[in-house]
Amino acid sequence: MAAKNRIFIVLLGPPGSGKGTQARILEKQLGLPQVATGDLFRFNLKHQTELGLLAKKYMDAGELVPDEVTIRMVEERLSREDCAQGAILDGFPRNLPQAVALDEMLAPYGGVTIVPLFVVEDDVVVERISGRRVCRNCGAVYHVRFNPPKHDNICDVCGGELYQRDDDRPETVKNRLYVYYKQTGPLIGYYFAKGLLEEIDASKAVNEVTEALKAVLAARGVAIPEA
Ligand code: AP5
Repeated sequence: MAAKNRIFIVLLGPPGSGKGTQARILEKQLGLPQVATGDLFRFNLKHQTELGLLAKKYMDAGELVPDEVTIRMVEERLSREDCAQGAILDGFPRNLPQAVALDEMLAPYGGVTIVPLFVVEDDVVVERISGRRVCRNCGAVYHVRFNPPKHDNICDVCGGELYQRDDDRPETVKNRLYVYYKQTGPLIGYYFAKGLLEEIDASKAVNEVTEALKAVLAARGVAIPEA
């Protein structure tokens, strides 16, 4: 495997702040894979694996899946060939033990490159989450108002059926936000102290958030080719 200086972008921010939306855009533009722990758990659940069934219990309650299984899953994912140049981490790390484990995993490759922090008000994320629809087949993400599909409940990309995630129910969303502030919040200080944190105003429109991300990436020497 290539040694140092891979690019590892850690997208940090509350549920519904737009991390997945931007990760998918950056994935295409940068040519680095999106590694989204929530998507990996949902993939496992779809295939009824032991890991998926275990994760479901925690996801439905809006709690974090235990570190041991989560860290092992990410380690395996990052060891795959498509991460040879780096990855866009979406939803990992989510607490201090996971952040320390990630630092250990990435130490041979130059560590985390940058941590964009998606800053957005709670009422905005609740509105975004309540209108989110996801393709059952390819995972593309829509919003009934901000990014509607061309045809109701049908994915523009693959024609798959759109659905509402189980953990997007209002009572679960409240706990996900609580867990974010309590367990993921300390990572803001952790990455600030390492000089890796870059705040992004994630309340803006999708294309404006992408431009802001590109600007902070470019300032760290991660250039994105013009489309
Ligand atoms: P996960 O799937 O990671 O969910 P999350 O972090 O809560 O993030 P979301 O997917 O809800 O939101 P997002 O920021 O990606 O927003 P999106 O782009 O979709 O995790 C789910 C669960 O898995 C966790 O609760 C936990 O149980 C478990 N888990 C995952 N990782 C774990 C870990 N590391 N450790 C332990 N457990 C873990 O956008 C939201 C909506 O807004 C969409 O409809 C979108 O179209 C719309 N939108 C996006 N951007 C904009 C914009 N700029 N303007 C208007 N609308 C927008």
